[in-house]
Amino acid sequence: MAEATFHFPRGFLWGCATASHQVEGNNTNNNWYFWEQAGHTRHKSGLACDWWGGRWKEDMDRAAETNQNTHRLSIEWSRIQPAPDRWDEDALDRYRGILRGLRERGLQPMVTLHHFSDPLWLYEQCGWEKETVVPLFEKYVRKVVEALKEYTSLWCTINEPNVYALSGYVAGDFPTCKNGHKGLDVATLVLANLLRGHAAAYRAIHEIQKDARVGYALHFRPMLAARPWFPLDALMRNIQYRGINMAFPSAISSGVMKSPLGNVRVPEVRGLQDYLGINYYSVDTVTFDITRARELFGKRYYPAGSDLSPSGFIANIPNGLYDSLHWAVKSYPDLPIYVTENGVEDDRDQLRPRYLARHIEQLWRAINFNWPIKGYYHWSLVDNFEWERGWTQRFGLWGLDLETQARIRRPSVDFYAEICKENGISSEMVRKYCPEVLETLFPG
Ligand code: BGC
Repeated sequence: MAEATFHFPRGFLWGCATASHQVEGNNTNNNWYFWEQAGHTRHKSGLACDWWGGRWKEDMDRAAETNQNTHRLSIEWSRIQPAPDRWDEDALDRYRGILRGLRERGLQPMVTLHHFSDPLWLYEQCGWEKETVVPLFEKYVRKVVEALKEYTSLWCTINEPNVYALSGYVAGDFPTCKNGHKGLDVATLVLANLLRGHAAAYRAIHEIQKDARVGYALHFRPMLAARPWFPLDALMRNIQYRGINMAFPSAISSGVMKSPLGNVRVPEVRGLQDYLGINYYSVDTVTFDITRARELFGKRYYPAGSDLSPSGFIANIPNGLYDSLHWAVKSYPDLPIYVTENGVEDDRDQLRPRYLARHIEQLWRAINFNWPIKGYYHWSLVDNFEWERGWTQRFGLWGLDLETQARIRRPSVDFYAEICKENGISSEMVRKYCPEVLETLFPG
């Protein structure tokens, strides 16, 4: 076995990603709070990681002390604009303090403006189903960017628009308009409005801040046909792939959103991105399934024998990260790329170290082709509220004891700290934290 280190380019960004509703706690004025109260989630978010109560400080100390140099967080719209005619200046001040705190700790902020949660008042108007949301979103974005521009120029308009639309309007797991109609047709409408919102935000941010870098985070899932020789599996794979992965980026490339239900023209969004954010977790296998009319007869699953996370939610398929980055660079040559999320739920930290090692190796492989990959954000820093799945899944490098708010240092904390410090991953680290993949990463 050769001793070696896979090094990353100087200035590479290493950090974690979080989202307001998942970490702040006491977010009682948004669509998710309503959804939780109505009993649609496994648990309630409650105090979450208590960031709004001030614990962001200790968690940012943790990030900085473990050699991270960036952090991706999101702003909670319902705090900034608690009612349509009211801005909360104290909340803006609080976020200013948080971003200042990040900078003081040497953490470059990437700020997401929309990460799945909407103000309750917007939700009551059926939010992103109506085009009227676009100027509202733009106003909120202007307010936030004016207030925070001193601390960052790296903005992520919308997190996973594809997941937001499909988890709500197709799977029924996310809040959708009360008593409203669900289906692919509404999901398509929502996606089109998210595109318009992205375009309006992109333009507004650049108007306010000349050197801004504005993008969005795409949940990208490579897909394989279960039986590639079977035309229906291949067809289902293509339909799912186009519907889930391509709708948003196709519109940004061409001004036309190509959806399984037909094309929607959104010319105003064409070309509006300064970087591409990729959220990568796993690869789906797709087969034809006559019982899945709502999902256009495509079933997505992980094959038997996959290296699964404890709840089976994620399969450890590292080359999928490479394939996602390959797709990104082929689609947008020269556009900077960030891995805006990547991680695994694993309360006992048995899978996480090898998941981390092997995904970092794939990232390094991609960087060796000189693809312009600028940073990696692990999901996540501390266990946080996992949407409809509540607290059943633990994505943190640090564990969270919900009763006491104590943080539990998992071995992956130290592993990631060594990676960030070295700006690379070495055979020595892999031997220490996940010897089971040493031969895979460093053969010989
Ligand atoms: C979302 C996060 C979520 C993570 C793990 C991503 O789709 O952006 O909010 O916690 O996946 O499920």
